[in-house]
Amino acid sequence: MGPLRVLLLLAFWATSDLVSCSFIPPTIFGDPLSMSVVTLDPPDFRGTPVYRIEFTTNTKAGLKNGMIHRNWEEFQELQRLITSELLIHSGLTLPVEPSVESLNDYLIQASESPNLMMSTIMSHFLGINWDGKDIKFFGSLVNFIEIVTKVVKAPYFQPEPPLYDSEDDVILAEETPFEVYLYLKGLQSQDSIEDYLIFFKNYTDTCPGFEGAPDDSDVQWPNSPVTYPPHYDQTYVHFLPGGYRNGKTLRINYVGKSKFNFLNETIIKEWLVKLHGDKNPAKVLDIGSGPGFSAMVLAEMFPEAQIYAVDMAAPNPRFSRRWAELRGLTNVEFYHANAEDMHFWEDNTFDFINYAYVLHEMPQDNSIRIINEIYRLLTPGGTMNGFEVPFPPEEVERSLLTEWNTWGYNWEDVGPKGPEPYMKEYEFGCNITYSLHDAGFQNISTIGYSFFDWVYLGEKAQL
Ligand SMILES: C[S@@+](CC[C@H](N)C(=O)[O-])C[C@H]1O[C@@H](n2cnc3c(N)ncnc32)[C@H](O)[C@@H]1O
Ligand SMILES: *[C@@H]1O[C@H](CO)[C@@H](O)[C@H](O)[C@H]1NC(C)=O
Ligand SMILES: *[C@@H]1O[C@H](CO)[C@@H](O)[C@H](O)[C@H]1NC(C)=O
Ligand SMILES: *[C@@H]1O[C@H](CO)[C@@H](O)[C@H](O)[C@H]1NC(C)=O
Ligand SMILES: *[C@@H]1O[C@H](CO)[C@@H](O)[C@H](O)[C@H]1NC(C)=O
Repeated sequence: MGPLRVLLLLAFWATSDLVSCSFIPPTIFGDPLSMSVVTLDPPDFRGTPVYRIEFTTNTKAGLKNGMIHRNWEEFQELQRLITSELLIHSGLTLPVEPSVESLNDYLIQASESPNLMMSTIMSHFLGINWDGKDIKFFGSLVNFIEIVTKVVKAPYFQPEPPLYDSEDDVILAEETPFEVYLYLKGLQSQDSIEDYLIFFKNYTDTCPGFEGAPDDSDVQWPNSPVTYPPHYDQTYVHFLPGGYRNGKTLRINYVGKSKFNFLNETIIKEWLVKLHGDKNPAKVLDIGSGPGFSAMVLAEMFPEAQIYAVDMAAPNPRFSRRWAELRGLTNVEFYHANAEDMHFWEDNTFDFINYAYVLHEMPQDNSIRIINEIYRLLTPGGTMNGFEVPFPPEEVERSLLTEWNTWGYNWEDVGPKGPEPYMKEYEFGCNITYSLHDAGFQNISTIGYSFFDWVYLGEKAQL
């Protein structure tokens, strides 16, 4: 290779690096010292032009520079909060006409007030001193109630959003404060759900989509195209714009690992080892594998076994295949399939079948079909393990779970929905312990883990 080729190649690498360069804002904890408006940048995902503010903070590790984008409305909101909440009237007035210069003067003037600079309002305006890591989302019922009743406060202003330009960054980046803010606002949006849905979609539209072949055959079992049940493209869970099939929502599903107990690999592993560590399955199936948390745990826990995982959204197996590669796992395969109908596998194929948080996300007929498929595919004497939301014996408890999660809306109606629109189908239709029994399972048992998590166990009869 001639020196010119090498140079050209280097130049290409350099530019391609630039092209696929994500912006992941650093989390800063410290006291703001100075700030200035440096430029007006093009509109962000909210559709308004944004002023770029640069600031210096005093952190435990010394001086640290930061950057935040704010639009004109946010400056107006800052001024409103300063006068209404901080009661600082010290002649600080917002310019009539926003411009880089006038807003810069405004911030310089504001920085002369120590009270203001040390306030929570100013921290949130600069996107510092908040990462939401202390919020225990589904840790306990009390945690959850404190969130929905807004005892847990979201920051006054959104943290700086990350911008992902590569799918690997979606997999590898630490959760950012903005992503915690998105979750928190979602759970607190009951009275403003229409606005939230636009905000949520505008942001997820900026994320990578994990696309593949137009017919998704790149991630399907050979010659096994997927037929979607109508509900899947009609009413989306967790407010996801376009549902799971929109791969741009994958990052948000993935960071669910810091909120839901059975998306946390440490907790999944602890329970799978405790309940099934003595088993030695040759073939394992994970259903509704999502990003792949439970499938990855199974692959690591049973290195001798071959793990198969299916999900009805094609972006998920694409994400999981790459993630498994990055983790060096070679005994796990991910496919795009509808778990209601896995005809490409024969009866009695798997020794162990697991799923986490799947059956409560669909109408009752669909979940019962999946339960029957699990039974069909298990080898005689095989075990199923389900991590799923509770099915308490008391009807009043099931009604409460339904109400909290659907906000009282019926999934089939047009209009707003709660975070788990199918909860009534699960609590009053799927009736999981009964359906497991009807499917033929023996030794059915349940273990309570939290107000949002139970473990369901069942065994297929020996021949
Ligand atoms: C909450 S996520 C599960 C997370 C996953 N267990 C993990 O460990 O990462 C629920 C998943 O179920 C999938 N799903 C829903 N209905 C399905 C079906 N009929 N067949 C296969 N997957 C389905 C959804 O696409 C979604 O990815
Ligand atoms: C969403 O994006 C559109 C198009 O850029 C914009 O007009 C709208 O103001 C945005 N809304 C929100 C809430 O982000
Ligand atoms: C998962 O759970 C463990 C044990 O409770 C906890 O230490 C860890 O921080 C959790 N992981 C995440 C990502 O939240
Ligand atoms: C589930 O239980 C409810 C009573 O809570 C019953 O009305 C319903 O028919 C059951 N669903 C099925 C599919 O059996
Ligand atoms: C159910 O449990 C009993 C007692 O532990 C056991 O003998 C039986 O084999 C189990 N049934 C299946 C299908 O594994």
